[in-house]
Amino acid sequence: MLNNKPIGIFDSGYGGLTVFRSIADQLPQYDYVYLGDTARAPYGNRSFSAIHQYTWECVQQLFKMGCPLVILACNTASAKALRTIQQQDLKTEDSSKRVLGVIRPTAEVIGNYTKTNEIGVLGTKGTVQSGSYLLEIEKFSPELKVYQQACPLWVPLIENGEHDKPGADYFVKEYLDQILAQSPHIDTILLACTHYPLMQDKIQAYLPKHIQTVAQGDIVAKSLIDYLQRHPEMEQSITQNGTQQFFTTTDDTADFDLHATSFFGAPVKSQSIVTKG
Ligand code: DGL
Repeated sequence: MLNNKPIGIFDSGYGGLTVFRSIADQLPQYDYVYLGDTARAPYGNRSFSAIHQYTWECVQQLFKMGCPLVILACNTASAKALRTIQQQDLKTEDSSKRVLGVIRPTAEVIGNYTKTNEIGVLGTKGTVQSGSYLLEIEKFSPELKVYQQACPLWVPLIENGEHDKPGADYFVKEYLDQILAQSPHIDTILLACTHYPLMQDKIQAYLPKHIQTVAQGDIVAKSLIDYLQRHPEMEQSITQNGTQQFFTTTDDTADFDLHATSFFGAPVKSQSIVTKG
């Protein structure tokens, strides 16, 4: 186990498990380490410097655990921290290490889902304010009209296990009404936060039938398959014993495991870890 070179998967909390689930389904052979910074989640309303600092601490932790490749399975961290990590922080590390995000792979393919060329992007305040989706989608599908809506209360509802309860419905409807009011031609809603697939059924139920929701898990998994094919040196450096380890920055691992199991769709047994310092 000590010699494992796993793929690291990071999120502020539980949401990245929706991405990890797709990745593990499609690439079960590799070793994986998941790290959720549950003690400091949600990230969505935090400052740029806090999100960058927390994300980099967690990435370094995953590097220490032997990961040659880390996926930021978090849109907020991808929007606010990825560029600085790739352009500055990684220079201080072994030059073979890589960190990838979830925004670019999603922006590359989202144009394939819409017929009206008008899409809605739902994300955290941080993701929406960064404008990252507008910039990235413009590069790949300049013909698309993109409307955004921040949904700041959805991640706290999910992190606290309240999303399935009737009280969550008010906030689901509230943000959907706001995005739909921006254009009557939207036919595709991108769930640009890895937590939101947990509420996908509820979100879909409040949308008119002709509007589809798109979650990122399978998109990111396919993009990872493609990346590993294009980078055989990275692919060969990752060990293939099919192990999965889960870490959380909270000390209540029992609570993490309870929620994480429903996000991941399989039993999760986590260990607590401190990332600071
Ligand atoms: N899963 C994260 C994302 O994709 C949620 C961020 C948060 O912690 O607010 O943006």
